[in-house]
Amino acid sequence: MPAITATAPGKIILFGEHAVVYGRPAIAVPVLQVEARAVIKPEPRGALGSVRIQAPDIGMDASLADLPESQPLAVAIREVFKALNISRLPAMLIRVTSSIPIAGGLGSGAAVSVAIIRALAAFLGHPLPAERVSILAYEVEKLHHGTPSGIDNTVITYRMPVFFKRGQPIQTFHIPQPFTIVIGDTGIHSPTSIAVGDLRRAWQANPDRYDPLFDAVEQIVQTAKDAVESGQPERLGPLMDQNHELLCQMDVSSTELNSLVEVARLSGALGAKLSGGGRGGNMIALAAPGSASSIAQGLLAAGAKRVIVTEIKEPGSYD
Ligand code: PMV
Repeated sequence: MPAITATAPGKIILFGEHAVVYGRPAIAVPVLQVEARAVIKPEPRGALGSVRIQAPDIGMDASLADLPESQPLAVAIREVFKALNISRLPAMLIRVTSSIPIAGGLGSGAAVSVAIIRALAAFLGHPLPAERVSILAYEVEKLHHGTPSGIDNTVITYRMPVFFKRGQPIQTFHIPQPFTIVIGDTGIHSPTSIAVGDLRRAWQANPDRYDPLFDAVEQIVQTAKDAVESGQPERLGPLMDQNHELLCQMDVSSTELNSLVEVARLSGALGAKLSGGGRGGNMIALAAPGSASSIAQGLLAAGAKRVIVTEIKEPGSYD
């Protein structure tokens, strides 16, 4: 049995986070500059069925049997065993590493799940199609917060820009004019579950206040898709600013995110917003041609812990 490696990229949400949990559409794209990686090797001297997991980024070196039922890596592995209906397992070592910041809105949890699921299914001789990989990764996403929309596992599994609506088949779209996004990391860990849970309680207490915010986000997402498909990505700038303002009204931004968003605009971005769960993690800015490095420098000077410059392009060109 040869060693198997699988990788999965990070992601950003260009428009529509949080509202997407409430059935509105959102747009997300992969970020290939960061990735999760799972390498699986047979352990010829291990006992039949023994699975050892090493995840140095989180200081883990453990046997699957010793991990709690709800540990996310253990859930990803057990989901594959269940899906393939395999009971007699060869002894193996699963090593997981990731350059995607944890709890930063770049999809680290979903990417780790997708890499493990892909590698393990292939290692066991039953590679899974993308549709099934995404469904299994969604099961793990439920642990991160109870009501995930499914956007992270979808964009990361399919590795292409997606126009996503909860419960609907995956849709992609044309990007005839590529454009550049600068991603700035506040360095603040912010579990998605907290922002999503707070917003859910606020919405339950006062749906009349929050439903119109989600509707306004939906309009922005539709307009953004039209702008991209018609080759006018510069129109996304003001739409990002508007989406950020709506996210502030949902109380999922933070002082640090707002300050990086403001710095990006002052450094020449056409628009900027938080991306993902918010309260910390990453923000994104749309760079006018030639302005990405001055935006990146501005963000770093303002305290961003890391900056990534990424190009958004046609779905078929992400391999
Ligand atoms: O995993 P994050 O932090 O990128 O958040 C995902 C986007 C949310 O809309 C906030 C949650 C979801 O399930 O869609």
